[in-house]
Amino acid sequence: MSDTDEWPLAEILSKRESGSKKEFYVHYIDYNKRLDEWVTPDRMNLGKLQPPAKKEPKSQSGSAKGSRPSSPDREPNAQFRKQVSQNRKRKLGMLDRADEENSSDAPPPPKTGSLRPHGGSMSHDDVITRIKNVQMIELGRYRIKPWYFSPYPIELTSEPVIYLCEFCLKYVRSRKCLERHRTKCTIIHPPGNEIYRKGSLSVFEIDGRKNKMYAQNLCLVAKLFLDHKTLYYDTDPFLFYVMTEMDSHGFHTVGYFSKEKESTEDYNVACILVLPPFQRKGYGKLLIEFSYELSKFEGKCGHPEKPLSDLGLLSYRSYWTQTLLEVIIGLPRADDGSSPSVAINELCEVTSVRKEDVISTLHHLNAIHYYKGQYVLHVSKEVLEGHQRSMEKRKVRIDSKHLHWTPKDWAKRGKW
Ligand code: ACO
Ligand code: ZN
Repeated sequence: MSDTDEWPLAEILSKRESGSKKEFYVHYIDYNKRLDEWVTPDRMNLGKLQPPAKKEPKSQSGSAKGSRPSSPDREPNAQFRKQVSQNRKRKLGMLDRADEENSSDAPPPPKTGSLRPHGGSMSHDDVITRIKNVQMIELGRYRIKPWYFSPYPIELTSEPVIYLCEFCLKYVRSRKCLERHRTKCTIIHPPGNEIYRKGSLSVFEIDGRKNKMYAQNLCLVAKLFLDHKTLYYDTDPFLFYVMTEMDSHGFHTVGYFSKEKESTEDYNVACILVLPPFQRKGYGKLLIEFSYELSKFEGKCGHPEKPLSDLGLLSYRSYWTQTLLEVIIGLPRADDGSSPSVAINELCEVTSVRKEDVISTLHHLNAIHYYKGQYVLHVSKEVLEGHQRSMEKRKVRIDSKHLHWTPKDWAKRGKW
């Protein structure tokens, strides 16, 4: 790797030659696939080359490989629920790979570029989808280097840059084409309803059925930065919540999350993304906060669809920690001055975070102790100090007074 002195083990996925120049596409074992790259042989220690192992490739976390479970789920109800969920998920804009790998029959293929993992050894398609195919995108003021494969049309992937319309996300091959497009496409915000605005921050709700083209284009962009989701083209069962920052030129997308219109598993987020130029500025946590705010309006607890990516887990862990500590710190002390008491269920009710996530976060904080025959909550001084410091950084928050939204009962509508 260019920024370390070490020689991490890497898997060679492909090679290309032009003239006398030879390059290999490598995946660094135990590192996230975002770091995969084309390297020249001088960056490889070929003396230590290992031939491929004979056995089936082992599944890596978040990678496209996987094999079917050896024994199917035998509990009839669970099997049935899983089937219902799988059947519906087939229509999803994005399906999490873990679910798909566990499915007992294969979902229909997407219209272009199969992203479906196949059990057993890697097929040609698997290799293709493990290699970044888009060199660069231009979106508004930014040129962004993709992290992962996304099935843009093959004619475009040979271009050095794919140009996207910032507002409708249509993709074209040149800046000229984009200028031509912009003479026809005059919108300066995402489609759908603006359901939240405070200051320069807005959120638009987009129905994947009513704005299919936009939703599909959004999924294509998202796939460039999401590795563990499989892309499908039927976006009907989804709503998309797109967060924007407004200036005199329009409403610029910073990120989004998608949500199933009906979720049997109470998922309140299917996929979540903050575009790289806006990452690590707190937008991820704002989107997560927004998703839980919607769950509060719905009067239920929610949770993100699994598996989470490495960055997804960091963001959720941080959000849950801050949210729970905020509530715990705000609890009134008992009259006798003893520590306040709170039931886990109450924490769930106030925050809309589901029980498992509340408990795992409290364990993570080492805040649950067994004392004199009962569980007590004790948050250490260090954790509280750390919390105060991190809350000082979290200046912008979602203000529910500015959310203009009523939940729809999609089950009653009969049609998404
Ligand atoms: N390295 C270390 N920590 C990080 C990183 C990073 N690269 N990125 C975010 N974090 C931490 C932050 O430090 C912060 O924690 P802290 O406040 O306790 O310090 C926390 O994660 C959230 O930071 P935000 O700035 O609010 O998050 P961001 O705007 O960067 O968005 C997101 C996070 C959405 C996960 C973004 O990284 C992203 O889009 N990644 C690519 C797509 C992805 O992985 N999505 C999640 C998939 S899971 C799912 O879809 C359900
Ligand atoms: Zn456009």
